[in-house]
Amino acid sequence: MPRQFFVGGNFKMFDPPNGTIKSITDIVHNLNGAPLDPKTEVVVAPPALFILLVREHLKAELEVCSQNVFDKPNGAFTGEISAEQLTDSGIKWTLIGHSERRVVMGETDEFIASKTKAALDGSLSVILCIGETLEQRDSGRTIDVVTRQLNAVKAKIGDWSKIVVAYEPVWAIGTGKVATTEQAQEVHKAIREWLGKEVGKEAAEKTRVIYGGSVNEKNCGELARQDDVDGFLVGGASLKPACEFCLFLFFSAGTGGEC
Ligand code: 13P
Repeated sequence: MPRQFFVGGNFKMFDPPNGTIKSITDIVHNLNGAPLDPKTEVVVAPPALFILLVREHLKAELEVCSQNVFDKPNGAFTGEISAEQLTDSGIKWTLIGHSERRVVMGETDEFIASKTKAALDGSLSVILCIGETLEQRDSGRTIDVVTRQLNAVKAKIGDWSKIVVAYEPVWAIGTGKVATTEQAQEVHKAIREWLGKEVGKEAAEKTRVIYGGSVNEKNCGELARQDDVDGFLVGGASLKPACEFCLFLFFSAGTGGEC
């Protein structure tokens, strides 16, 4: 069975017009009308404030994802949201381990692993983000870094069937500097080999490994043709005004093209 192509839109906290009720509602409206490829799984991750709005208005075939989740099922943790609260609200996915949370919020490999366990225990599926900084790449440590990040999660969970691994090199996020197809394929292949060795043959065959970092309508086609690239996690381009309609179409078809 081929792995189902997967496209995630990570709607970050950009300046208006991208982060308002109106702009989010417009995107939802466009997505609802877009002739998306039914073979592709599409998941969008709005800021927490808009999760219920998006779930209420987005068509049922498309899933909503939180950008964060806490590692405890309940308790006095002001400002946090639990997996149970998300599933109760009809949310089936969460992002965990995004580099912006690792770097800016100081989230450690261990905390990310705890959050992954809590999310799975709370019946969520997880987009687990991993990736190296430019300094780590330049010093030849890319595979070591992603292996360390994966090992931390493996120490806390055994079942990877509800995890999508998102390889997002930090130097490619929001920079316009997309990984080359060779760079992406090399790391995705290494991630799949790690899954085969550390989790099992079935996990290696079935786990989607998606790419994120400056993906757009022009570069997505070639990336999608790489053997071990099973989809994308898209930041800025998923919010382009009046453009997300065709972007999602291109990503879904995996063909790329001009807007
Ligand atoms: P950009 O597509 O804006 O580079 O962001 C990628 C990303 O961080 C998705 O999670």
